[in-house]
Formats: sequence, structure tokens, C-alpha cells
Amino acid sequence: MNKNFYITTPIYYPSAKPHMGHAYSSIVADFFARIKRIQGFNVFYLTGTDEHGQKIQRSAEKLGKDPLLFCDEISKTFRDLSDILNLSNTDFIRTTEKRHAKSVSNLWNILENKGEIYLSKYSGWYSVSDEAFYNEEEIEEKAGNKLSKVSGSPVEWVEEESYFFKLSKWQEPLLKFYSVNPKFILPETRKNEVISFVKSGLKDLSVSRKSFSWGIKVPSNKDHVIYVWLDALTNYISALNYPNENDKLFKQFWPADLHLIGKDILRFHAIYWPAFLLAADIKPPKRVYGHGWILSGEEKMSKSKGNILEPLEIIENYGLDPLRYYLIKEVSFGNDGNISKEKLESCINSDLANNYGNLCQRVISFCEKNTNLLVPQKDKFNEDDIKVLDKFLSNYDQLITFIDNQNINSYINFIVDQLFAANKYFNDQEPWKKKNDISRLNTILYVSLELIRKITIMLYPIIPETSLKVLKIFGINENEITFKSIKNNDFLKANTKIYKLEILFKKIINND
Ligand code: MSP
Repeated sequence: MNKNFYITTPIYYPSAKPHMGHAYSSIVADFFARIKRIQGFNVFYLTGTDEHGQKIQRSAEKLGKDPLLFCDEISKTFRDLSDILNLSNTDFIRTTEKRHAKSVSNLWNILENKGEIYLSKYSGWYSVSDEAFYNEEEIEEKAGNKLSKVSGSPVEWVEEESYFFKLSKWQEPLLKFYSVNPKFILPETRKNEVISFVKSGLKDLSVSRKSFSWGIKVPSNKDHVIYVWLDALTNYISALNYPNENDKLFKQFWPADLHLIGKDILRFHAIYWPAFLLAADIKPPKRVYGHGWILSGEEKMSKSKGNILEPLEIIENYGLDPLRYYLIKEVSFGNDGNISKEKLESCINSDLANNYGNLCQRVISFCEKNTNLLVPQKDKFNEDDIKVLDKFLSNYDQLITFIDNQNINSYINFIVDQLFAANKYFNDQEPWKKKNDISRLNTILYVSLELIRKITIMLYPIIPETSLKVLKIFGINENEITFKSIKNNDFLKANTKIYKLEILFKKIINND
């Protein structure tokens, strides 16, 4: 079995500092990286910054800064964000690095040598903010401004000499590729949008610009810089040491298992990227998943609406794990979701403080009073015990399917159900009334500890910091966590020490 897993986030434009949308993509990617690792996969998790193009050049110019110095500063805030979000990324790539320029130039040369690129002239609409070309039908006029119907961003008219990639030639091969790989684009609704866009006809794509200089030069014609999306998409193979296709990393991890992106950049990843790769005789990635947007109330967060919830501020006030938990649980993955302080607080109180935190606290303090903080010696499990413990075994294959189909919500709903079941088990079994049946009392405690262990392992990819604290009480370290151990009902060894647990989540009491 192939035990390698390559996951990527989009590489972020360092034109402004990181916001909730960036945090969301990275946290969800981290969920997959961590879950695959505890399933025993070698994981390569890549993130980084997309630093070329007109948008960055203009942002730097506005501040009177050299573009590279400008990128150095903001790219660092994205790199720092990896620590702040507790991301387990393997690498962080910047498109201004040499390794990347080499990879992009090589890909360009292959495409040019194969006759997939030709020189002509572009005249049409361009959105600097999306770094995208739009057809006449995709443009509308509002209050005298020309805007893209697709993204709502302003567009400007561009007329210049440009190299073109023969995208039209790849229309049929792409459609065939989608039909042979029905799960290449997820979720399903997004896949249908892409397929109808491709069916409606693909025009050749302008892949170089001449009117500005901030980018990787076309190797055979230094007057042109390579289109920023051809440049940016290539990051996914640059990080694996492409163009050396015999490199260990490239052989081990390409094609990528999952490009996780926002729905607004699906066209680039699901159409252009596989077309470039097919044209260069490189395998396309296995899956592109387009997630929804994080909204504030019902609106997309934006500076002009003043409704931005800063990830850093949320983390400072509520902690990181609550934010990670909220984004993974409360947003229906694939759709838009929203975040507000009220919703976050209620999620912390009900799920984290009450359901999970209390369970851990109650069981451990019961052990403190009754078993001298040692794992008790269990007797034979009765029907109630087996029923609650075996849920993990009987649903195991289903859980793996959820993970492999990026069905995060079903995965976490299962955890929440088991949390309710574990709390109910502890209440119903009333161990406090079993003081004269020590053997039963011990068994109830043992089952409760096992439930905490299993649930905590499942929570680890979502709230890693808290989960590690809880697993520490059993002496389990991060590198010892295995997902398959949730099937085991007697993992904990009698008489081993249980360490005390600090309060995991404080309940938020609002007086207003
Ligand atoms: N640089 C390109 C990606 C190149 S990948 C080869 C880019 N960068 S971006 O910084 O503008 O956006 C990065 C990601 O953040 C995109 O996936 C986008 O969908 C996501 N988000 C931006 N705002 C968002 C929300 N409000 N909510 C969720 N994600 C959104 O595009």
C-alpha cells in the first residue's frame, strides 16, 4: 500500500497580512496532515507565499518599497502564522526562492519545446486583484466601473504582446480526465461547475505579461515575465525538487494527494494546472478540494465592511484550539460558514468546556479519590461497557472513508456523539454508588478512561495542543499516537500512573 500523503494549501499573496480565510485553509490542511500521520502515512504538508505579479508589485510601489523587501516582511508574518496556528507543515515555499525559479523555467521550456506555447497578442480584460483574465461575457458594468462577474473585482483593459498556452487543445483531454477520475474535483457541486465551464469552450490562455517586471522572466525572451498563476501553481512541484523527477521527494510524493483551496481559485487548480501538467507529461494531482468562504454574519469578511475577525485577536482572547475546533466543526466543509464571537463562545462552552473538559475532569478526579491515580484493574466488560467501547471498532472503516473523502463534518459529528455517549455512560453507571463493589467500580473507571483516550486521539488532529495534554496523563507522547488504537478496548495497562490534569477549557460567562 502507498503510505505517502502530500497535502498543500494555496500559497498566499503577501499583499496584506494573514486573515481568517488563510487561517481556515491552513488549519483544515493541518487536520489532514495530522490525521494521516497518525494513520501511519509519511506526510508532506506544504504551505507558503505567492510573491510575484502585478498585484504585489503595485502593493509594494504604493508603499515605496522594493518588491522583494516588501515580500520578505509580509511573507514572514505568514511563516510566523504557521507557529501561531500550530501547523505541522513540512516546508514553507516562497516563489521568490531560487529552487522555485528553476522549476518554473524548466516547466516553461518543456511547454515551449513541445509547441504548447506560442507568441501572439492579448487584448482583453484583466483583474489585478485576482491576477486573472476574463472574457467579455464575464464582465459587467456597475456605477461606471467594469467588474468581473465571477469575483466582483475591478478589471482593466490590457493590450500587449503575450505568450499563449494552447489551453483549447486540452479541452477534450481534460473532460476525459475528469470522467476517468470522478473524485478529482470535490465537492461534487463544484466539480459540475468546472465541467460545464470546460464544456462551454476553452480559449488559449495568456501566460506572459510584458507591461511590468516583477516575476520570473520567460527564459527565451527576457521582455516577458511568466504569468503569475503558471508561476504560482508550479510551487507544488518545486517543493519536491522538480525538475529533478528522480529526486526522492518527487518520487515519493508526486502526484499530490490533496490540493486544498478556496472555491474562488478552483478554475486555476482544476483546469489550468492539470492542463499544464498533462501538456508537460507530468501526472496531475489526485484531488483538488474547493472549500467555501468564512463569512462574518452573512457577509464575506472584508476591510471595507469592517467585519473582519482577526485570527490573531481571536487566538489571544480565546486560545488557538477553540478556534481550530470551531472552524472545523461549525463550518460545513465545502460550503460557506460564518464565525462570530457569540457562536464561538457558545461552542467553547457546550462542546469543549462541558462535553469534553468536564468528562476528563470528572473521571480523573474520581481516579484521584478512588484508585490513587493508577489505571484500575478491570474485570470482565459487561454489555453496557462493550456497547459504548465498540462504537469505535464498528465504525472504524466508515471513519476512514470520511477522512478519505474529506467528510470532516461526519468525522467530528461522530466524536461529538461519542462524547455524549461517554458522559451518559459515566452518569448512568453511577460509579459513586459502587463503593462496595470495587471490581465494578474499577471496570467503570477503566472504560471511562479508555473512552477518554479514544476520543482524545480522534480530537488530536483538530485540537492538538489540548489532546496532547490529555494523552500525557496516560504517558502517551505525540509520536506514539496511532489512529488504529481507537479500535483497542484494553490499551491502558492496569496500575500504570495517571497524571493529574489541569482545567482544559474555561467556561465563558458573559454578564452583558
Ligand atoms: N495566491 C493565490 C493562490 C495561489 S495557489 C497556487 C491566492 N492567494 S490569496 O491569498 O488571495 O488566497 C488564498 C486562499 O485564501 C484562497 O484559497 C482563498 O479562497 C482563501 N480565502 C480568502 N478569503 C477567504 C475567506 N474569507 N474565507 C475562506 N477562504 C478565503 O489566491
